Amino acid sequence: MTITVKPLDAPLGAEVFGVDPTRPLTEAEFAIIENAMLEHLAIVISDLPENLDWLLGLGRRCGPLVPHVLSQYHHPCTSDISIIASNMDSAESRRTAKPAGAFWHSDLSYTAKPSDAIFLYSTIIPDDGGETDAANMYLAYDTLPAATKARIADLRAVHRYGWNGGGAIVELTPEQRARYPDVVHPVVRVHPRTGRKCLFVSPGYTMCIVGMRQDESEGLLEELFAHQLRPEFKYTHRWQVNQLVGLDNRPTIHRAVAGYTKPRRMLRMIVNGTE
Ligand code: OGA
Ligand code: MN
Repeated sequence: MTITVKPLDAPLGAEVFGVDPTRPLTEAEFAIIENAMLEHLAIVISDLPENLDWLLGLGRRCGPLVPHVLSQYHHPCTSDISIIASNMDSAESRRTAKPAGAFWHSDLSYTAKPSDAIFLYSTIIPDDGGETDAANMYLAYDTLPAATKARIADLRAVHRYGWNGGGAIVELTPEQRARYPDVVHPVVRVHPRTGRKCLFVSPGYTMCIVGMRQDESEGLLEELFAHQLRPEFKYTHRWQVNQLVGLDNRPTIHRAVAGYTKPRRMLRMIVNGTE
């Protein structure tokens, strides 16, 4: 079986066909998938049986996996997988007003080494919503006015877990909070693999611009947030059960779309950040 990659008709994403879920990927197959994620920013693989070993095999080839700070939602079999569940009558289901991740963000941008990539795998999908939105931050950067590019070129911003989660955030315990102090990242990031510049702020986790007066910082961030969420940068993924979505977490932001009422359950792997 040969693996093929078909770009989606969207500002990011490609569907990957021909994956054999009964055996690990060969080196050549893995390279196709890794390159597809670099080129298209997201990949979608459908009809994958729920097989933790297979998923972990793929995730760990992308780099070490990072256990999420919310250890109460780690998968019983491995802390390398978190369960993201809503509207379910089980301890693993979130109790927040909105589902996990229902705010625009890039995973682990509130840490010194934001995640390089994430994988979401669907096990239960509601029929009344539950999509995942993603937005292309290369495009967002490229389309900024020249004056804004010049203004933000050397700026850095503070990121904090839970800064603007709008009802979707599980509060950290004091021990968890102590392990995640505020961090600073460049507003414009150069992707280490593609060399392309991307906008690296998000409404969910980016608090303020370093060294800028508060009103000025708020004004600039409002402008950048409004720009980065323009519809032409966005892809909305409508899930089927047993689908895997991989996202290059550096040149993208994403969110869970809130507003559904039926059960939803995903498995998530977070690949370590290399810088
Ligand atoms: C998250 C997240 C997306 C989703 O929890 O960090 O981005 O669709 N979730 O559940
Ligand atoms: Mn996320």
